[in-house]
Amino acid sequence: MEKVHDKENFYKIYDWAGSDRSKLPWAHDEPTLFLRDIVAQRGKPGKALDIGCGAGTDSLYLAGEGWDVTSLDFMPAALEMTCARAAAAGLELTTIEADVTEWEPTDKFDLVLDHGLLHNMNPDRYPLYRERVMRAVADDGDFVILHWLKRTPDEPQSEIGPTRVSREDIQKFFAPELKERFFAVEEIGGLTKSVGASMAQGYYWFKRASSVEERGQDEVSSGVERAVRGK
Ligand SMILES: C[S@@+](CC[C@H](N)C(=O)[O-])C[C@H]1O[C@@H](n2cnc3c(N)ncnc32)[C@H](O)[C@@H]1O
Repeated sequence: MEKVHDKENFYKIYDWAGSDRSKLPWAHDEPTLFLRDIVAQRGKPGKALDIGCGAGTDSLYLAGEGWDVTSLDFMPAALEMTCARAAAAGLELTTIEADVTEWEPTDKFDLVLDHGLLHNMNPDRYPLYRERVMRAVADDGDFVILHWLKRTPDEPQSEIGPTRVSREDIQKFFAPELKERFFAVEEIGGLTKSVGASMAQGYYWFKRASSVEERGQDEVSSGVERAVRGK
């Protein structure tokens, strides 16, 4: 079964896309779900880490909102795209070329984002990934992840493409340190057969469990609830 999990495949995809980021299969122009809400809710800019930043759409959004952004990816081409787009927009950010499972975080971040990295990773690296995330998320920090969803226990894995994982298993993976605060699903159809014709993307907004207990769930804005219901 061919997977996109190894680094070689990312080299192939970035080589094929060249400087045209719209050719990347995961290209998106809008910030990932929940980011606008987190920016609005925090009120003032914080520090963000975008792991597996790709062409940098989320990094650019956050930098544009005044956040101090670190964009990490193991593909030089991804960081080149992110830097070129930031320069064109007159934005500053820090880039790190590293495999997240080999990187040593020296800082804490108010927001850590993973839009599509973990679900492309070989499971034997999961513990190393988890450890880095836990070290990077600040005590009252937010963690947002987009991960392909296993909708039913018997939903098969596609021939190629990201690993599908159930919502419960994602929650367990990040527990007890992180607690899910919001979850939304986006169903996507009309895909090629090799990725299974249809799939669902799970969007998760986690917080440090200690800060959720201290503050309670009630302070969540109605704007966030609308965003989730809208999906
Ligand atoms: C599906 S793409 C998503 C890109 C971007 N987050 C976005 O929203 O467009 C996954 C990205 O993670 C990067 N990546 C995958 N595994 C990685 C790893 N172990 N360490 C660092 N980057 C990784 C890939 O190079 C790729 O740019």
